Amino acid sequence: MQALGWAGYPRAMFESFADVWTPVTLARNLKPDRPLGVMLAGERLVFFRRKDGTPAALIDRCPHRGAQLSIGKRTKEGCVECPFHAWTFDGDGQVTHVPLNPEAKKERLSATALPTREIGGLLWVYTHAGATAPSEPIVPDGLTMQEAARTYLEVEWAAHWTRAMENMLDNPHVPFVHKKTIGRFVQPYLHYDTSMEVDWEPTDYGGRVVSRIANVRDMASLDFFKPNMMVLNIPMPGKVFRMHALCVPVDQKKVRMIVIGARTFATFSWLNPLFNWSNQRIVNEDQAVVESSDPVEVPPASHEVSVRTDKATLQFRKYYYETLKPSTTPPKRQLSVATDAA
Ligand code: FES
Ligand SMILES: [Fe+2]
Repeated sequence: MQALGWAGYPRAMFESFADVWTPVTLARNLKPDRPLGVMLAGERLVFFRRKDGTPAALIDRCPHRGAQLSIGKRTKEGCVECPFHAWTFDGDGQVTHVPLNPEAKKERLSATALPTREIGGLLWVYTHAGATAPSEPIVPDGLTMQEAARTYLEVEWAAHWTRAMENMLDNPHVPFVHKKTIGRFVQPYLHYDTSMEVDWEPTDYGGRVVSRIANVRDMASLDFFKPNMMVLNIPMPGKVFRMHALCVPVDQKKVRMIVIGARTFATFSWLNPLFNWSNQRIVNEDQAVVESSDPVEVPPASHEVSVRTDKATLQFRKYYYETLKPSTTPPKRQLSVATDAA
């Protein structure tokens, strides 16, 4: 019989965001010598670096008495030490030391680990408890190509991640919300009866959005990488110029926006602050509109009215409601049977 504790544990995790590889935060936030607590889709995670420097992530709740591991220590052996009774856990969640209880059967006392990677300046996890994942993250090449210079930005919005994601896939707002920045280039085509075409091409990784305004190909195409990344390809002959926007769910009311610019021209690092400032400005223009959206989470398509140019956002909504929204990660095991006490 399943016994539930005071807080309803064991309970499901990552509701509406299970079984996906997702970026969580910038890798530079994880220092070599201390753990890092980060919220992801309503779950608190603790990241720390193993002895070889690779990152590990556990659910940030000690299986003993529920203390946050992230306020403990990272040991020199590459484990995390709980701040309460100093149990230590390795990157796979296994207990390595139980002070004052040398006889404890360690294999019964493990924490919950998640598959973790560090790629493209980001920490990724697979939202399913267990040390292995059925796949690897699909990473756009702009995040890893050697020849590109990159800029990194991380901010939090008071919005549900689905509203932020739709905003990033939505071309028709560009001439209005971004009229002073990227929308300036579309302004000359914009008249009272101008028409825009939006095409959605499904791809292995998600989809590609190509737009035309007044029958002229738009300035840029977008790629959607499931579940929560948009890559804006800004045309520049012979060069790569991209903006990656990642909408990481924090909880039902907050989204962590990570913006990574990549370019293969003007690659001097002293220009990075300028490119970052420009991305920050564009993202700030979106923030107020996204945060104002009601209801907070995107509703099913039939609950809002839509037009022809909403093709891309409707595709995202279909994916969200058919795949992500029903998803949840069952508890790894029942805490009630994991006692080592006599
Ligand atoms: S609560 Fe973590 S060791 Fe006791
Ligand atoms: Fe925008």
